[in-house]
Amino acid sequence: MERKRILTGDRPTGKLHLGHYVGSLANRVRLQDEYECFFIIADLHTLTTKPEKEHIEELAANVRSAVLDYLSCGIDPAKSVIYLQSAVPEVVELSLFFQNLITVPRLSRVPSLKEMAQSAHIEEMPFGLLGYPVLQAADILLPRAHLVPVGKDNVAHVEVTREIARRFNYLYGETFPIPEALVSEYGSLVGTDGNAKMSKSLNNAIFLSDDEKTVYKRVMSMYTDPKRVSADIPGTVEGNPVFQYHDAFNPNKAEVEDLKARYRAGKVGDVEVKEKLAKALNEFLDPFRERRAHYESQSGLADEVVYDGTMKMREEARKTLSIAKKAMGISAVWNRISRKAEDVKKKQAERS
Ligand code: TRP
Repeated sequence: MERKRILTGDRPTGKLHLGHYVGSLANRVRLQDEYECFFIIADLHTLTTKPEKEHIEELAANVRSAVLDYLSCGIDPAKSVIYLQSAVPEVVELSLFFQNLITVPRLSRVPSLKEMAQSAHIEEMPFGLLGYPVLQAADILLPRAHLVPVGKDNVAHVEVTREIARRFNYLYGETFPIPEALVSEYGSLVGTDGNAKMSKSLNNAIFLSDDEKTVYKRVMSMYTDPKRVSADIPGTVEGNPVFQYHDAFNPNKAEVEDLKARYRAGKVGDVEVKEKLAKALNEFLDPFRERRAHYESQSGLADEVVYDGTMKMREEARKTLSIAKKAMGISAVWNRISRKAEDVKKKQAERS
């Protein structure tokens, strides 16, 4: 039986961090064998908030950094396709067809778009940004994916995708699967400053590419229970980012339980709790560092991964567009005209 498909990915805006890992990357790695996976580096999506040349010029380096992050997590290019969105132009054609299957008021209610506009200091909604979820629907349906592992903030976009797929199938006949979002059980990871979300722009992130010393430094300066001015004051574990990280990344559950108990009783200093976390995190990241070193040891290796993936995706994209255009009947328009015209031309050539 054919395996079901996954499509997901990221905008190449810089280094990926532990929040990305917990929210989506871990699921991707885990599902590589069970599903046929397509991972998109969505450079066209960056244009919706950053169309300026200076940002476009950063894309090549950011794409490479994203690919290395993927590979360091354990995404295996022998199993999964990693590809560059802008090198598969069919996505734009599919996106255009989809634009007719959803309304402006519906898109205006997608909360993430206003947030993106705001944080990019854009006052009025650009046409392209309003269409962000439509382009994402085209990404997802281009390989006819069934499952989309994403962070919480992208669930609304997958919902738009489902509506578009249903509408397409209703108008033109069963063509696309109705894909499902898969949100990680951890949801999003808090920042090192206790802020609700780890994010590069808030400067509260631990990056997958951070070295041992950097991880140590970031952990030792983490926000923790502010009421605890000395080690003998009972502390709060719930909602404490240091313990949230212990839960997420320290495989030694007995150690974590012991630390929690002593923390609650005022019998452990923050330094010990943090040092144990730094150690656990570094052990967690060591295999990432080894895989990254392997791919960095040979120049061009990461580029070749994207190149090969993009070629595979192009093939898949051509298939889907051909199926979709046949279903819509749009290919028949040109087919009829061109067949007739070619006939005429042949006859003219015979006569002369
Ligand atoms: N919207 C995603 C983000 O927040 C990136 C993305 C683009 C994506 N196309 C996708 C995610 C398709 C999942 C599936 O960066």
